[in-house]
Amino acid sequence: MIQLSPPKLSDMTIPEILREKVLTALESLEVVVPDPARVQVTKAADLRFGDFQSNIAMMLAKGLGKNPREFAEDLSDRIAAEGLCEISIAGPGFLNFTLKAEAWAGLARSQWESDDLSVSQVKAPQTIVVDFSAPNVAKPMHVGHIRSTIIGECLSRVATKIGHKVIKDNHIGDWGTQFGMVTWAWKKGVDEERLETEPLQELLRLYRTASDASKEDVGTKEECRAELVKLQKGDPENKEIWERCLALSRKGLNQIYDRLDVSFDHWMGESAYNDDLAPLVEQLIADDLARESDGAICIFSNETGKPKHDPFKINRDGVWQDFPMMIRKSDGAFNYATTDIATVQHRVKEWNANHIWYVVDFRQGGHFSQLFDTSKRLGHEEVNLVHVAFGTILGKDGKPLKTRAGDLPQLEDVLNDAVKAAQIVVDEKRHLETAEEKAALAELIGVNSVKFTELSHHRMSDYVFDLDKMVALEGDTAPYLLYSYVRSRSIFRKLDGEVELKGDNLHLTEKAEIHLVRMLTRYSDQVHQVVEDYRPNLLATYLLELARAFHSFFEACPVLKSKGQTRESRLILCDLTSRVLKDGLNLLAIPVPERM
Ligand code: ARG
Repeated sequence: MIQLSPPKLSDMTIPEILREKVLTALESLEVVVPDPARVQVTKAADLRFGDFQSNIAMMLAKGLGKNPREFAEDLSDRIAAEGLCEISIAGPGFLNFTLKAEAWAGLARSQWESDDLSVSQVKAPQTIVVDFSAPNVAKPMHVGHIRSTIIGECLSRVATKIGHKVIKDNHIGDWGTQFGMVTWAWKKGVDEERLETEPLQELLRLYRTASDASKEDVGTKEECRAELVKLQKGDPENKEIWERCLALSRKGLNQIYDRLDVSFDHWMGESAYNDDLAPLVEQLIADDLARESDGAICIFSNETGKPKHDPFKINRDGVWQDFPMMIRKSDGAFNYATTDIATVQHRVKEWNANHIWYVVDFRQGGHFSQLFDTSKRLGHEEVNLVHVAFGTILGKDGKPLKTRAGDLPQLEDVLNDAVKAAQIVVDEKRHLETAEEKAALAELIGVNSVKFTELSHHRMSDYVFDLDKMVALEGDTAPYLLYSYVRSRSIFRKLDGEVELKGDNLHLTEKAEIHLVRMLTRYSDQVHQVVEDYRPNLLATYLLELARAFHSFFEACPVLKSKGQTRESRLILCDLTSRVLKDGLNLLAIPVPERM
């Protein structure tokens, strides 16, 4: 399996430099290190003791028959890092490194001078397919699609930023039972006008009409199924309705994606694989990977692992039983799973994917385990398949979010509600002159508050959807970050003339300045970490911390009122902060306003 290897920087990072120095010091003490990989210098857990730390003295002392603290003292005397940092010893023998102000200034200077803010590029770029959003067309878009859409876009942007080749694919559910229902209701009476203006709403109405009617009457259910069979057999009228449905759904979905600043390279929906399914199943049977069971074709366990870790086994009342994956029903129809196997093959063969990330609700975990296992058995050992799962959005009652009518809320309604809540906050801002200005800001704040709230939570945790909280200016919110950006820029509007800033003038004396730089220079690491763990919330939380460091700096260190080099140095810090905030927010797919 190809690993997304941790990024190697072209220039060494501070922990790497310190690690080299520790290794040299150990050599000079004639200590043989059994496993050099275990010599580590990491970010300090507690900033009061230093910026970086190492537990190497404690690890080695025992084997050397030495007291760890004394050994740490010996070692620290030998580490040649005078210009770079102070070294102190804490507790039973931790080495703590506190970077000198000059060293921090040097790091900030090169970050400020670098076009990409010193974000390092991966040495071995991979081709990554990100499978996200993927709503089922002509069916209510369930809340999970909010999470998938937003997380998927963010992961795609971050992976692209560090040098991977990313292919964004919207694998929409555009084939299946729901089309029988929509077609049935369509033929009973479709509102052509509304189809043009509000395509998703009209399709949803058709779906609901058929769904309600089928619940009341078995005959209707049969009629819907018959419409589907006609479509699958290629009936021209039904095919035309289906094609119009698809085009309209795309139009409606694109309106939402535009609002969210989300885009795709491909829309290879389920129907794109229709022709591949029959030969695929035949192939799987011929290769002995699938077999008949009660008239259906299924994939069973290959009985190589423990049942506990076997996705094709299930424990019922203490007994392990087969839990096969069905790939062809007894009536000859194919399944979600069949399409997904064909999709992996397409992505590997046609797109040369090394990684496929499925940003999909955790409830589909069982499906993906079976799919991944099947793909391996099919010989796709090379591709790293990952289910980037996420939890549930909850209402204030702690239960999965529902509308008042008890339905799953639609993404569009959620966004509109958020914009309404933001409008209230924006209306209090008197300095915005026109109603248009206020409306534009409310749209920006509303939509991006929903996005930021999503991205700031660990994807596996459930969170409560609280509109008032997410649009508030205070708290861990999008408006707080957007405001921080605006504040870091506004100072430049107040400057009388043009100032030409020079990196050489950057120098740091105050604690708040050093802390701000400490946060700024972590940017590259934080960005890489998002992809290592498929966790946008690491970047979201980092940006909040950076914003807090900026506000503390801004309170403690006058910028415009200071003079000479200090003034210039602080202006550089404002500029660098605004650039990192803007860049980081852009990775979260959140655009920044210039005023608010
Ligand atoms: N359409 C599916 C749903 O709404 C999600 C598809 C996810 N992607 C996939 N390759 N299975 O649940």
